[in-house]
Amino acid sequence: ATTRYEAEAAPATCAGTIDSNYAGYSGSGFCNGTNAVNAAAQFTANAATAGTATVSVRFANGTTTARPVDVVVNGSAVQSMSFEGTGSWATWTTKTFTVQVNSGSNTIRFSPTGSGGLPNVDYLDLAQDGGPLATAL
Ligand code: GCU
Ligand code: CA
Repeated sequence: ATTRYEAEAAPATCAGTIDSNYAGYSGSGFCNGTNAVNAAAQFTANAATAGTATVSVRFANGTTTARPVDVVVNGSAVQSMSFEGTGSWATWTTKTFTVQVNSGSNTIRFSPTGSGGLPNVDYLDLAQDGGPLATAL
């Protein structure tokens, strides 16, 4: 099963503002993180079982410079990734990766390591057990 967590909806947190000035977002807005190192967006996602989960994060980066981020799961930095330019702030793209999760609640935090901060972040999808998202990969 896949569950979607919107960046603008608690318990998600956004070190910045919730904006809605670029079209194409899901829900009621997106997280515009402050342009600074560690100005993070954090999701709290439920997993049915411990093990591997597939995460997709939707973002837009209207600059031509990729923005590097540490992915922090339950407090541990587990990987680095870079959110490339998408062509405009209204052009949204998803990036998909796998993480190890606990059964139950997990925090998945995108913590920027560059002074540009995060891209604009729309939502996070978490899938397990060969659900629709995993099938499509
Ligand atoms: C612009 C844009 C914001 C974006 C910001 C950034 O100000 O309007 O949505 O977050 O650039 O560079 O991060
Ligand atoms: Ca921003």
